[in-house]
Amino acid sequence: SSSLHRESGVVAIDQGTTSTRVSVVDAEGTVRATAQAEHAQHFPRPGWVEHDAAEIWESTRELMGLALTRARLRTRDVAAVGITNQRETVVAWDAATGVPVHRAIVWQDTRTEPALARLRADGLDGLVRERTGLPLASYFSASRIAWLLEHVPEAATLSDAGRLRVGTMDSWLLWNLTGGPDGGVHATDVTNASRTSLMDVETGRWDPEMLALFGIDERRWESMAPTIRPSIGVFGEVAGPVALDGVPVAGILGDQQAATFGQGILSAGGVKNTYGTGCFLLQHTGSQRPRSGHGLVVTVASQREGAPMQYALEGSVAVAGSLVQWLRDNLGLIERSADVETLADSVADDGGVVIVPAFSGLYAPHWRPDARGIVAGLTGYATRAHLARAAVDATAYQSRDLFEALVADTGRAPERLHVDGGMSVNDRLMQFQADLLDIEVVRPAQTETTVLGAAHAAGLAVGVWADESELSALVRPGRRWHPGMAAHDRDALVRRWRRALERSFDWAE
Ligand code: G3P
Repeated sequence: SSSLHRESGVVAIDQGTTSTRVSVVDAEGTVRATAQAEHAQHFPRPGWVEHDAAEIWESTRELMGLALTRARLRTRDVAAVGITNQRETVVAWDAATGVPVHRAIVWQDTRTEPALARLRADGLDGLVRERTGLPLASYFSASRIAWLLEHVPEAATLSDAGRLRVGTMDSWLLWNLTGGPDGGVHATDVTNASRTSLMDVETGRWDPEMLALFGIDERRWESMAPTIRPSIGVFGEVAGPVALDGVPVAGILGDQQAATFGQGILSAGGVKNTYGTGCFLLQHTGSQRPRSGHGLVVTVASQREGAPMQYALEGSVAVAGSLVQWLRDNLGLIERSADVETLADSVADDGGVVIVPAFSGLYAPHWRPDARGIVAGLTGYATRAHLARAAVDATAYQSRDLFEALVADTGRAPERLHVDGGMSVNDRLMQFQADLLDIEVVRPAQTETTVLGAAHAAGLAVGVWADESELSALVRPGRRWHPGMAAHDRDALVRRWRRALERSFDWAE
C-alpha cells in the first residue's frame, strides 16, 4: 500500500560510462546513501572503446549491498529498484551461462563508421532520421550489434542456437538482477530503445526495415532482442544471490532521460544540460514526435505504463568530462579530476588557447565523423593552467552550439537552463555558461539528478509518490547564475570558437 511505501526507500542504479553508482533515496526524495566505483576503460585501437560487462555487473551487485548497508536499510524497507544507464553501449551474452561473448562496445566507439559512411552514401540518412529520429552515426547501437554478429564467431553460433541475448546496459543489468540464466527478464525501456536506430520512434516497436538496413536478420533478432516496455512500470523482481531479493525493478530510463526526469522536467518546455563524460542538452517536447532541422536528435523522454510516449529534442556532445580525464590519464596534467577546477581558475582567462575535443569526431549539432581533436592558439605564453581552462570551457562552447540548434528548431529561447552532472559543481563554469548562452542557469540543491530520476521513475510506478506533481515538488533549486557578459565580448569568443571548430573538420581520412 502507498502509506507503507511512504516509510521506505527506493534504490537507484546509475550505470554510467566511467563509473557505476547506487543510491538509496527516501520518500522525501533525499539521497540517503551512495556507493560508487569506476570500471576499466579499454582502448584496444584508436577510436575503439570497450567495457567489461561482467566487471560492471559484479561491481553493481557489490555497490547495491554497500549502499543498503550505508543507508541502514533492509530489503523489506525497499519499495522498488530503478535503473538508469549509459545509453547506446551494446553487450551480447550467452543466455545459458550469462557470459558476454565480447567486451561491451561503448557509445564513443567509432569502429563502425565505414559501414555508416556507406549507408549515408546510399542516401539512407533521411529515411533513418524520419523513422528513428536519429542520424546515421556510429554513436547509436545498431551498427555495433551488426558488427558483433559479423565479427564474433561465438555470437553467430549462439544466435543460431537461439541462445544469444543482445541489449544495452539496462537490459544487461535487468537480466542479471532478475535471475540471469535462471529466468532473467530480457527487456529494455522505450528511452533506451530509442537510441538504437532500430526502433520506430512513433510506434515504439522494433522496425523490420531498419533491421534489414543494418544487416540484422529479423528472425535472429526476435530471439536475441529485449522486449521494449514503458519506462515507468514493473519489469520484474530481483532474484537470486543479490541484495533486494523479491523487490520489483519498476523503472528504467536512459541516463539523459533520467536526468531530465530527476530535474522535474516532466512536460513540454523545460531544458536541462548534464555535464557528464559527455554533455547532453535535452528539451522536453511533450507527446508529439518533434523533428529537428538543425542537427539535434529526436528521442523518447519517458513513458508511463498505459500512457503515451513523451518526447525530447536532444543535443549530444561526445567529450566533456572525459577531456578532463584525458588531461589526467594521458597528459598527466593533473593528479585528480577535481584538481582541474583549481588549475583552470588559477589564470584570469584561457590565454588564447581553444581546445576542440573531437575525439570521436563531433556529434550534435555538427555530426562530423571526420573531425579530430585540436588545440588551437598556442603561444609560448600558454601554460598547463591555460590548457585546463580551455578544456573546461570547451564544454560550455559545445553546449552553446547545441543551445543555438535548439532555439533554431523550436523558434524560441527557453527562459532558463537546468544543469546537473559532475562539472556542474564548477561555479565559474556555470557563470561562463550563463554568459555564453545569455540565459539564467539553475542548479538544483541535489545535483545527482540522473540517479534521482531513476528513483523517481521506480517510486512513481509502485506508489511511493502518487503522481508527477509530487515528483516536481521534490526538486529544490540550489543556485542560480545570471548572464553578465557584454554582447560584443560574447560574440568575439563565439567567433574564435567557430574558427577553431572549423579547423578540426576534415582531419580523419
Ligand atoms: O549517450 C551516452 C550517455 O548516455 C552517456 O552518459 O553520463 O555516462 O556521459 P554519461
